Amino acid sequence: MLTTLKKVLAKAHAGNYAVGAFNINNLEILQAIMAAAVETRSPVIVQTSEGAIEYAGMEYLKAMVGVAAKANVPVVFHLDHGKNLDTVKRAIHGGYTSVMYDGSSLPDAENIANTKKVVGWAKWKGVSVEAELGAIAGIEDFVSVEEKDAHLTNPEKALAFVKATKCDALAIAVGTQHGAFKFKGETVLDFERITAIKKLVDMPLVLHGASGISPDLVERTKTQCSILGDCARLDGAHGVSDDAIAEAVKRGINKINVDSDLRIAFTAAVRETLLSDKMAIDPRKIVGPAKTLMTEVVKHKMELFGSAGKA
Ligand code: G3H
Ligand code: 13P
Ligand code: ZN
Repeated sequence: MLTTLKKVLAKAHAGNYAVGAFNINNLEILQAIMAAAVETRSPVIVQTSEGAIEYAGMEYLKAMVGVAAKANVPVVFHLDHGKNLDTVKRAIHGGYTSVMYDGSSLPDAENIANTKKVVGWAKWKGVSVEAELGAIAGIEDFVSVEEKDAHLTNPEKALAFVKATKCDALAIAVGTQHGAFKFKGETVLDFERITAIKKLVDMPLVLHGASGISPDLVERTKTQCSILGDCARLDGAHGVSDDAIAEAVKRGINKINVDSDLRIAFTAAVRETLLSDKMAIDPRKIVGPAKTLMTEVVKHKMELFGSAGKA
């Protein structure tokens, strides 16, 4: 059933677990995610970026998620990284049950003013709002405490931000970044910062850039490059380890954003299929195995985040 981020995250906040937010661009990714949610009896957040809306169209995405939400698990339809206020407004009026307004690249005062505006629009429609404070960026290049504080989310500023904006969930910067190249080696996250923010704001917190970039799947894409020649090898790719995710959840993260892991699973499976069946021309045969692999990835996340069995 379709529900709001506020409802799903209130339970996660009280129960000290996290709900996965997975990006979709097409039918197969959505079906893969839903199969995992139903199988693990997990609530799920299905999110679309502005780029996904441009690619697939808001109406198509809404219609697909509407069908997906007939499943007997809670489904949130969420706008990811809404930076354009017109798009955010369109989503609020267009069937999304939750939006993220991302003003993190703006000066704090402007971020606060725009987030307040979005919360005002969303309230009328019963739509939830996620906001972001801090720059979601890698941690390894910061040398001083001052530099870290300037980029990562400052706990006192977070408290002032949520009081002023009345957002329902806060995305914080604690050392993760988007994409496949998050760390030079092992995961480095500022766990103490999560604890400090949670203690002060006492509300649902969101971790972006949380893909694990599974070495197994990276290896599978590399193997194919020896046949394909010059293709994305993902050399040196590193994500957030499962141990680090478990620790982040323990310290108060309640929504975990994953996109890159599904992209890599999709690519590995499609490449394998095309290389092993050179006669394949049926899109169902080419994309079907990718769907199965993405479901496996999402099921693992739902177990790891603690949302399995919480539907
Ligand atoms: O955080 C960004 C998501 O991975 C969406 O990426 O803007 O390429 O759709 P995208
Ligand atoms: P990843 O690139 O780590 O999958 O992060 C996705 C994300 O944060 C979407 O908002
Ligand atoms: Zn993100």
